[in-house]
Amino acid sequence: MWFEIERDHSLPLSWQLHLQLKEKILKGMIVGGQRLPSTRSMAEQLGISRNTVVEVYEQMTAEGYLQTKLGAGTFVTDGILLDNFRLEKSVMTCNRKEEKSDYIDFRSGFPALASFPRMVWSKVAKDVYESSAADLFGYQEPQGSEELRQVIAAYLYRIRGIECDPASIIITSGATQAFQLVAKAIIEPGRVVYVEDPITKEIREILSGTGGSIHPIAVDKDGLTTNSLPRNIQHTILSVTPSHHFPLGAILPAQRRIELIQFAEETDSIILEDDYDSEFRYNGIPFSTLYSLAPHRVVYIGTFSKILSPALRIGYVIMPKHLINNAIQVKRYLDYHSPILNQVILARFIAKGHLEKHVNKMRKLYKGNRECLIRNLQKNFPEIRIIGSSSGLHIVAAFPGIEFNEKLLKVIKENGILIQGVERHAINKGKYANQLIFGYGNCNELEIIRGVALIKKILEGKM
Ligand SMILES: Cc1ncc(COP(=O)(O)O)c(C=O)c1O
Repeated sequence: MWFEIERDHSLPLSWQLHLQLKEKILKGMIVGGQRLPSTRSMAEQLGISRNTVVEVYEQMTAEGYLQTKLGAGTFVTDGILLDNFRLEKSVMTCNRKEEKSDYIDFRSGFPALASFPRMVWSKVAKDVYESSAADLFGYQEPQGSEELRQVIAAYLYRIRGIECDPASIIITSGATQAFQLVAKAIIEPGRVVYVEDPITKEIREILSGTGGSIHPIAVDKDGLTTNSLPRNIQHTILSVTPSHHFPLGAILPAQRRIELIQFAEETDSIILEDDYDSEFRYNGIPFSTLYSLAPHRVVYIGTFSKILSPALRIGYVIMPKHLINNAIQVKRYLDYHSPILNQVILARFIAKGHLEKHVNKMRKLYKGNRECLIRNLQKNFPEIRIIGSSSGLHIVAAFPGIEFNEKLLKVIKENGILIQGVERHAINKGKYANQLIFGYGNCNELEIIRGVALIKKILEGKM
């Protein structure tokens, strides 16, 4: 039985063993009914004291993971395997390499891939494949499944207070295609496009791709600095992430939201509201959307990449009424329509309540990961500054005196850590060189602890 126990780890030996043993049981790598090595043999194998093993076995017995049978030993309790780990187990036994990459994944915007609700999803999928009418396998309308659009409208009303007509929604292949669609539909060459600086690099490139003239607007601790917007201009586009600025994590205060809407009204402009991860808010209640304040001025963009899986490639855009027909036409010429079967599966998955259940479960997981990450960063780097509100799937950390240039980022990657700097997304370069974006969606607490310790060693020149 393989465990990685490190003596110079910041975690106590018992905790390391506890976490790893628990993970193996939940993933089905050690199955219900299996007998564990005796405390003596486990201690010898790992080179740790027997008391440590006894402590872990007792704790996990109290938690219900293990059972002790007098004279027979310690066994894994039946039925502990987590539903969504079941398939992973068969992948593991076929080809261990496919199980998970060896990297510690601090990339932003990745949800917990191992927690995708495979069992429930495949049940719904089986039903859709087996019982749908033949028409579903033919060409569809460019707007996407009407069933999904209705379900999304109801979902947005429940969780974001958005009131919208399903006829204003277009289903896209992720938010990325929603931006592409909007760029093609409303950004002609020379059109002024205001964007936050920093902004996701790919989104900026899409917005300039149809000839838009990109104008960066600085972001401060509260998000886009609305007082930097000029007033002597007409018909502009303004792209914002008001619920959780990417990557700096600010939540745009109410006053600035009002100012944005006023700007759009006075200058006859359109706002693109990218609401990519607002379901994950860890304290307080979310602000209402810009779309709710001014549906005729705002194009609202949402995605299922963060709350479910980016592999589904399902996002959506809500268009103001006067722009919808043109946008539908653009979608037709982009790819006719996004793949329909996954749309119908998703519609049923949401309608049966599975999505909200999954999001609630994930929110707890991410909150724990976030707290663990911040705790460990502050412990290892007392000078560090943590940036970003308590929401989403990432934080930014500023390391005084460090420059994360390409060479240093390469060393970090070569040591098994996937992470990006803020500077990559900055338009005006130089301001964020000491800042890293730590995604905490696709890593567990042990990986977070290991990853932070590894970064410390690298920065101290010990790797
Ligand atoms: C701020 C932001 N918006 C939108 C997206 C796009 O997500 P997708 O195209 O997977 O829906 C991303 C991707 O990471 C992002 O960072």
